[in-house]
Amino acid sequence: SNPLRIALAGLGTVGVGVIQLIEANREIITRRAGRAIEIVAVTARERSKDRGVDLTPYRWMDDMTAMAGAADVDAVVELIGGSDGPALTLARESLDSGKCFVTANKAMIAHHGMELAALAEAKGLALKYEAAVAGGIPVIKGLREGAAANRIERVYGILNGTCNYILSAMEKDGRDFADVLKDAQEKGFAEADPAFDIDGVDAAHKLAILAAISFGTQLDFDAVEIGGIRKIMAADIAQAKALGYRIRLLGLAEVDGSNGDASLFQRVHPYLVRTSHPLAHVTGPTNAVVAEGNFSGRLLFQGAGAGDKPTASSVVADLVDIARGETGPAFAMPGHMLDKLPPAKSGHR
Ligand code: HSE
Repeated sequence: SNPLRIALAGLGTVGVGVIQLIEANREIITRRAGRAIEIVAVTARERSKDRGVDLTPYRWMDDMTAMAGAADVDAVVELIGGSDGPALTLARESLDSGKCFVTANKAMIAHHGMELAALAEAKGLALKYEAAVAGGIPVIKGLREGAAANRIERVYGILNGTCNYILSAMEKDGRDFADVLKDAQEKGFAEADPAFDIDGVDAAHKLAILAAISFGTQLDFDAVEIGGIRKIMAADIAQAKALGYRIRLLGLAEVDGSNGDASLFQRVHPYLVRTSHPLAHVTGPTNAVVAEGNFSGRLLFQGAGAGDKPTASSVVADLVDIARGETGPAFAMPGHMLDKLPPAKSGHR
């Protein structure tokens, strides 16, 4: 059968990972997808840069509008980043021109996911973003499909690898914050602007998406209460430890109250996690998501929340879905109105 022909926008670490994965696991992917996944066109800000992969088999396209409209492309993969700007333009134009769209862009989905989902749904196209939340962990598919029959009561977890790396390194070696942050940037998992990591914004993007998926509610990023880890000192960590806790930056979402006056609580904040809880043992740049389903019980999804290979793994899984013809809704059932819940009043959980 015909291959799924894709165009790739953004050739940073994840983009290169996608090229390598499609090449390395070609047979497995073709067997699972029922057809080949073939990269047709690529683009990035800079053409000449050496990325360690051979780009000559692919058509280089400087013009992203042309990429969105290319007749020989079935699906566009966006790995540019940024909530607005070129990524959003590419998303709108690709869906408008009848192409499925795959993205790892949590900021764009958190801010514009409802608009893009409606656009995709109106055209019967897939909009997929597994890689946007917790990198290599298939938590969107896990919750949407694996836990599909459950009422999910809460969802929470470690959603930023940089913060978890910083907190666990401070804990282990008593190093200072600034020193460990530099390390995370050098290792390449911090955002281009590390303020997004350490001030909790990156985790908040992911939490808003998880909440919408878990509760069937509309995305509401603006209602997430956000705190970060800038002010955490080695002394705080030592004191927490003495009391049997570890400090973790968690995102937590739950629906409060019964149907009549239900509200949505969403918060990112440093929490004291008891050492008996599994999240206290998640160290390094790892992510972990806990979901409590009313039939499944407590589920724990853990793995790499960033990095070229893990994130590429989620991007290509979305392409496999599309190759199989799974163009289902991005957030809910087609035509189904998602609940819009008012934000819950602030308070500690
Ligand atoms: N900067 C993010 C993190 C990368 O540290 O988790 C993945 O979104």
